[in-house]
Amino acid sequence: MSFPGNPVVIIFGVLVLRSVSAQNAGFVKSPRSETKLTGDTFELYCDVVGTPTPEIQWWYAEVNKIDSFLQLWDGARRRRVSINTAYGVNGVSVLAVTRVMLEDSGIYECRASNDPRRNDLQQNPSTTWIRAQATVTVLQKPLIDASDHMILPVDYHSPPITLQCNLSVSQNAHRESYWMRNGGEIPGTRLEGIRNREYKLSKPRAEDAGEYMCVYTFDMAPSANATIEIKAAPDITGHKRSENRNEGQRAMLYCKSVGYPHPVWTWRKLDNGVFSEIDNSTGRFFISNKDNYTELTIINLDISMDPGEYQCNATNAIGTASVNSVLRVRSYLAPLWPLLGVLAEIIVLVLIIVVYEKRKKPDEVPDDDDPAGPMKTNSTNNHKDKNLRQRNTN
Ligand SMILES: *[C@@H]1O[C@H](CO)[C@@H](O)[C@H](O)[C@H]1NC(C)=O
Ligand SMILES: *[C@@H]1O[C@H](CO)[C@@H](O)[C@H](O)[C@H]1NC(C)=O
Ligand SMILES: *[C@@H]1O[C@H](CO)[C@@H](O)[C@H](O)[C@H]1NC(C)=O
Ligand SMILES: *[C@@H]1O[C@H](CO)[C@@H](O)[C@H](O)[C@H]1NC(C)=O
Ligand SMILES: *[C@@H]1O[C@H](CO)[C@@H](O)[C@H](O)[C@H]1NC(C)=O
Repeated sequence: MSFPGNPVVIIFGVLVLRSVSAQNAGFVKSPRSETKLTGDTFELYCDVVGTPTPEIQWWYAEVNKIDSFLQLWDGARRRRVSINTAYGVNGVSVLAVTRVMLEDSGIYECRASNDPRRNDLQQNPSTTWIRAQATVTVLQKPLIDASDHMILPVDYHSPPITLQCNLSVSQNAHRESYWMRNGGEIPGTRLEGIRNREYKLSKPRAEDAGEYMCVYTFDMAPSANATIEIKAAPDITGHKRSENRNEGQRAMLYCKSVGYPHPVWTWRKLDNGVFSEIDNSTGRFFISNKDNYTELTIINLDISMDPGEYQCNATNAIGTASVNSVLRVRSYLAPLWPLLGVLAEIIVLVLIIVVYEKRKKPDEVPDDDDPAGPMKTNSTNNHKDKNLRQRNTN
């Protein structure tokens, strides 16, 4: 420090600073190879660290032309390619290709660099950029002939229904097939090596409505599937017929339904003989809807406004259903009534006893149960004791 102007010290200091603050680009997450079916979408991820934050690019080469990489840009291939990159502490980029075609097969490369000379044409890119590759294989989507979508009749007397899927074209040897309903596998439907599949609904009802899917799995390719929608009007299968609450408390009414697609739920209240929108000007009404379930909660019940009939209404593209529930609201005092009753009873009893005792002459007190015979002769104290004891046992 005795030679603050010494150029050697300054250069040394700058070098130390540079090596502390700068960090070469490195991959945190690199894109992974995938196999996809035509028509699907694939996404490749690339996550890079470095100081300063590295720039990220995506490049593509056909499998057999590994020497001729071309840079990909957002909107390429008739807008089927999208590139979303965020530069923060890391550089993170997602390459997505939609509606994939056989020609999209190839090698996709994520390139990253924070080298200040990275775009200098004199430099060899292989020394200034780091690279990570993934191979994307696109296979022809197998063809599945499936039954048409259906609508169940409302009257519940639908004839049996058979859902069919026929695997007609596939490049790969197929392994298994099974049926799914609303996203869950139907147990006991998994079979090996059969191309034509059936699923029977012998007594189709509204609760059988939903999204059915046949799935075929393959040895070397992603599974393929076809969807058959069985639609039905909503049917409300459960609700609270009545709810009894005290004013100031909270009430909860609910309805649940079967049918498909899931209904849109509404609640209304009977006012002067007609059902109309619930007046929520007091902000005490809360409605919570799940797919096939709705709940109406009323807080801080008002004895003059809230009692009455409420209606839940389930409506989907096929039909509509509604049911009514009765809400009764009792006064604050209601819970006291049983207590008041008990009190009244006690008062009456006490009165009866008092009256009875007053009408009795002291001599008439029965003393049969008193074993001390001689003592009963003339002690008035004794009688007082007796009276007290009797009152207590009553
Ligand atoms: C599936 O194949 C069977 C037998 O060949 C045929 O009867 C049925 O109509 C086919 N189903 C569909 C949905 O193509
Ligand atoms: C059904 O096929 C679609 C499109 O190929 C795919 O995205 C989806 O994951 C498949 N679903 C199942 C359950 O196999
Ligand atoms: C309601 O939907 C849920 C999932 O959305 C499902 O698990 C449940 O079985 C359905 N209930 C009825 C009565 O359909
Ligand atoms: C009623 O009003 C409250 C308070 O403004 C609000 O939170 C609630 O969502 C409303 N309920 C309905 C059914 O609109
Ligand atoms: C349910 O509400 C809809 C829309 O307001 C109405 O068209 C339909 O008639 C109602 N359904 C029933 C069963 O009341």
